[in-house]
Amino acid sequence: MEIYPIVKHLHMTFAGLSLLGFVIRGYWMISGSKMLNAKPVKIVPHIVDTILLVSAVILVVMSGMYPLKVDFVTLKLLLLVAYIVLGTFALKRGKTKTIKIVAFIAALATFFAIYWAAMTKPVF
Ligand code: HEM
Repeated sequence: MEIYPIVKHLHMTFAGLSLLGFVIRGYWMISGSKMLNAKPVKIVPHIVDTILLVSAVILVVMSGMYPLKVDFVTLKLLLLVAYIVLGTFALKRGKTKTIKIVAFIAALATFFAIYWAAMTKPVF
């Protein structure tokens, strides 16, 4: 049995779960729900994102497509940093609700840019 396609499917599944969790938390942020501070809501996304990242590292090592060597992997890594920073502004660090909502929309756009980079593998 081939390991690589299994890890790739795991990676894609957890990317989807990460987006789903972020959209739900964004909805709770906009609606001012207390759910945002519930303990599982603070813990589960870290588990999902850790599995997403660990699977990314395994794919990079197994395929030899390292950041700085392969353009789309470099791009994904840079966009991931932007997604994380924008995500913390959207759900926590944004000083006003407007800032949080703008950061939320920008984070979603960044996520779809990562997805686009994964699917089209652009070369610069
Ligand atoms: C939100 C974050 C991420 C999303 C949404 C995402 C999405 C995806 C998707 C949809 C694929 C499958 C592409 C295909 O069918 O060919 C994929 C593959 C892959 N991803 Fe990610 N990814 C994310 C983060 C990362 C990060 C941070 C890295 C490493 C820097 C990474 C490295 C890879 C690699 C090496 C592959 C395998 C490409 C191949 O085998 O052709 N991903 N990713």
